Amino acid sequence: MLKMKTEIIIIQADITTLEVDAIVNAANPSLLGGGGVDGAIHRAAGPQLVEECRRLGGCKRGEAKITRGYNLPAKYVIHTPGPIWRGGGEREEKILKNCYINSLRLALEYRLRSLAFCSISTGVYGFPIEKASLIALGSVKDFLKKKDSLEKVIFALFSPKDLQVYLKAYRKIFRKDYPQEVRK
Ligand code: AR6
Repeated sequence: MLKMKTEIIIIQADITTLEVDAIVNAANPSLLGGGGVDGAIHRAAGPQLVEECRRLGGCKRGEAKITRGYNLPAKYVIHTPGPIWRGGGEREEKILKNCYINSLRLALEYRLRSLAFCSISTGVYGFPIEKASLIALGSVKDFLKKKDSLEKVIFALFSPKDLQVYLKAYRKIFRKDYPQEVRK
């Protein structure tokens, strides 16, 4: 059986401007909004987003919940609270990996075709971005090896510096063998 290959795109962008099926929000466990990308997403989506979030009853770190996108160009928002970096001894890496995997699982459940991630936990939560970028891309690669029905996965980096870090991680994780490697 010929499987669809997923395109991986790494760009510098404000995630709130992307016309995709879903954007992934680096939320906090209350899901009631905050600063950083979370604040930007809530501002762009409008007040209906927090109303829907209020009904979700929060979300554990590493898990993910989905809402509509309201005034955003994206149809849905997947909210996932990442780990707070405390030096690496508190399962931070595993929790971050879970954020990516559980967001992808939800995307599949909702039959989404395109998904955009921001760099979860690397702002206010202080996760070192070099390490986080390898986890982000590595988790997505592992997931897509088994299920590649998504057409497009975008990593939207906010600064040119973060973009460079992710491009470096991309070269390390995917090398030349992608997408051939996931083609069945
Ligand atoms: N588009 C894309 N990326 C963005 C945008 C944007 N519009 N704005 C910021 N970033 P952060 P965290 C990048 O701090 O570390 C909130 O208060 C940013 O440069 O937003 O997971 C929540 O409510 C950084 O690379 O999220 C939580 O309390 C990345 O997004 C807490 O912050 C993540 O930075 C979560 O902290």
